[in-house]
Amino acid sequence: MLKKLFQSLFVGMLVLSVFLTGCSAINTGTSNQKATTKDKNKKIVVGFSIGTTKQERWQKEVDMAKKYAADHGFSLLVQSCEEDPNKQIQQVQNMLSQGIDALLISAQDGDSSGVVVKMAHDAGVPVVAYDRLVRNGDLDYYITFDNEKVGELQAKALVEKYPKGNYISILGGPEDNNAHLIKNGQEKVLKPYIDKGDIKIVTQQWSKGWDPTEAMKNTENGLTAANNNVVAVLASNDGTAGGAIQALQAQGLAGTVGVSGQDADIAALQRIVAGTQTSTVYKPTQILNSTAMELVYNLAKGDKKSVENMVSGNIQHGHVGKVDNGTKDVTTFLMDVTTVTKDNIMSTIIKDGFHKMDEVYKDVPKDQRPKQ
Ligand code: BGC
Repeated sequence: MLKKLFQSLFVGMLVLSVFLTGCSAINTGTSNQKATTKDKNKKIVVGFSIGTTKQERWQKEVDMAKKYAADHGFSLLVQSCEEDPNKQIQQVQNMLSQGIDALLISAQDGDSSGVVVKMAHDAGVPVVAYDRLVRNGDLDYYITFDNEKVGELQAKALVEKYPKGNYISILGGPEDNNAHLIKNGQEKVLKPYIDKGDIKIVTQQWSKGWDPTEAMKNTENGLTAANNNVVAVLASNDGTAGGAIQALQAQGLAGTVGVSGQDADIAALQRIVAGTQTSTVYKPTQILNSTAMELVYNLAKGDKKSVENMVSGNIQHGHVGKVDNGTKDVTTFLMDVTTVTKDNIMSTIIKDGFHKMDEVYKDVPKDQRPKQ
């Protein structure tokens, strides 16, 4: 409670200081004003603010974004706040003072990051939310995967194999809007089974910061509450699945109890091959990233026509819709997702080059691996 109060005070002070100083080094006009006064000879600079690089996916996406910028001849400033939402606001303020032309942000805390949109707009800088929604702000665009669908696929993969019995529910970080959407998707699929009395959720706990250690403890709690009589752990991503599997291993239950995940992390795919994890959800981050970079680069250049084409045209592997962020219905690019189990690793992950065959099957002798 006290922490929240200090957090709000801190955010308030930051906003006030932005108003009072007028952000001396930056353009304080509106987005439109900036677009019309853009110096054609100035090199475009895009800011990429990221909440964490802990999970494998984020670091890969930073590298993809750097490559996109280098290939297209513009500058990219990248900063990760490593799970400190106040630091993220400061970092954005710093990027704005360095004169970025557009901001791509993956919010650490969906609610407290709304303030960055105001700061950016006051500096004439458009804002695109990357994978995690920025709530309560006049956000320009949002690009993400269909997170409710992720939750549905996680639950479906488990109920197909384990239609009856006790489940442990391991939710993601409560500060991340995605974790809530995933929960909704999971519950949509589980509800009829729970109503019939076939499935019972023995424990359901959030894992702050999507922390695997917290997920391990939460799984231990579930196992204790059910006397180890559990058929599946509905884990919300591959990191938390890793924590859950550690807890199962300690009880000799790894491989018999079903476990879900998402992200197609290399460690998760190796566990799927080994039989200790049931499924993951493959989210083609290479497509998410290149679409986001194309969008943010067009915005940075003030190229409205290309932005309109992207919004109205057909995008590869996804669709454009609206997502309510508490302030408005934000135009959103929603990318498709796919369940991955032992049976389709080859036709998804390997086919797309998301991971290499030798890494995924590193513990399987060559003559026992599927044919390429
Ligand atoms: C993302 C997941 C990721 C999690 C933890 C979520 O917002 O959608 O892909 O595993 O954050 O970083």
